[in-house]
Amino acid sequence: MSAHDTAPHTPVFTGVVRAKLDVVLARYPTKRAGLLPALWMVQEARGWISDDAMAEVAQVLELTPAYVKGVATFYTMYHLHPVGKHFVQVCTTTPCNICGAEGVAEAFLKHTGCGDLGATSPDGKWTVIEVECLGACGFPTPVLVNDDFLENVTAEKVPEIVKKYSA
Ligand code: FES
Repeated sequence: MSAHDTAPHTPVFTGVVRAKLDVVLARYPTKRAGLLPALWMVQEARGWISDDAMAEVAQVLELTPAYVKGVATFYTMYHLHPVGKHFVQVCTTTPCNICGAEGVAEAFLKHTGCGDLGATSPDGKWTVIEVECLGACGFPTPVLVNDDFLENVTAEKVPEIVKKYSA
């Protein structure tokens, strides 16, 4: 169990989730090909992917835990520790930064109560991080709130955005 685990692991791949994984696996010639979707299913079910969950994925897909961990740690889209209900990613790469992206990130930290980048707010609702180019350089500042892509976000618009997602 990792330092971030707070409760004993209960299996993810049972019932509906296992059935969903079986549908995915039927598309591929090998179980290993289902690794990325399997990790995604864990994250959807639990909000993040613990070491114990990686071990379960390894067992289900007949892989080694080290192989699963190597893949999970490669992709930034997988959360390897608990995050808030709303995961906010702010592009602060130079083109967005010269248009005020740093102020947008600071506004999110202030209005969500996160305090620091990567930290989760005391109410467990928010985690804010800075990311590299989100591919929307013409619409600074782009922000991802979970799967929602927001463009032209300014520091002034942040309180309204936080209010909307908090409702
Ligand atoms: S630099 Fe911000 S989206 Fe490209």
